[in-house]
Amino acid sequence: MIDTHCHIDFPDFDHDREDVIVQAVEFGVDRLINIGTDFKSSRRSFALANSYENIFCTVGIHPHDSKILNPKFLAEMETMADNPKVVGIGEIGLDYYRDLSPRDIQRKAFITQLDLAINLDLPVVIHVREAMEDALKIIGQYAGKLQGVLHCFPGTVEEADRVANMGFHISVNGVMTYKNSKMQDLGREADLDMMLIETDCPYLTPIPHRGKRNVPAYTKFVCVKLAELREMSMAEIDKITTRNAEKLFRLVEIFG
Ligand code: NI
Repeated sequence: MIDTHCHIDFPDFDHDREDVIVQAVEFGVDRLINIGTDFKSSRRSFALANSYENIFCTVGIHPHDSKILNPKFLAEMETMADNPKVVGIGEIGLDYYRDLSPRDIQRKAFITQLDLAINLDLPVVIHVREAMEDALKIIGQYAGKLQGVLHCFPGTVEEADRVANMGFHISVNGVMTYKNSKMQDLGREADLDMMLIETDCPYLTPIPHRGKRNVPAYTKFVCVKLAELREMSMAEIDKITTRNAEKLFRLVEIFG
């Protein structure tokens, strides 16, 4: 399995980061993609990816921090992206739920980083909350030119289909294990060939560990739940979602 969206650079892991990486492998989660959210976490993600063979990273500015994006950091992102362990730009997107940056600035930072990803020929990792229509409108303009994933997909099966038709993936996580979560509909019905699994740790811990810190190892519980919803074996789900992630982030092409 691949945890396609984790944040183990966060201070939550300062006391046991090494153990958490070892534990992931023990659970069958042999590769991690650590996702940058601002200047510091992008740099920390980059350092982690260059310290561990099985860790890859993305660099980018989260919609919450859109207002900090500047040309200097864009240039730094470009330099970091020269390194093969940087496999995407993210997380970028729109968050109208918390509105921590003004919406017009969020849209501008989103578009700037989508353009950067095209220039760098890298896929994007997108965060959308309470902003699906605007996000789909923007992403639609990049259909066919850019690939990526809408992580922790907050939409309906119909919206997931629209996303897939634009050539973008969705990812599911621990939320899918929560009772009556609408993410279960995605697990049952959305296009499996456009689906990834992730944790978004330290957040969104799956059942049976809900309430505690999330870790990459728990990608396994997401995989188990998806297998149950799909009425398939965990091995099959693992195979399909791993192949999807390898393809999107070009892990095999580059790393063999
Ligand atoms: Ni995240």
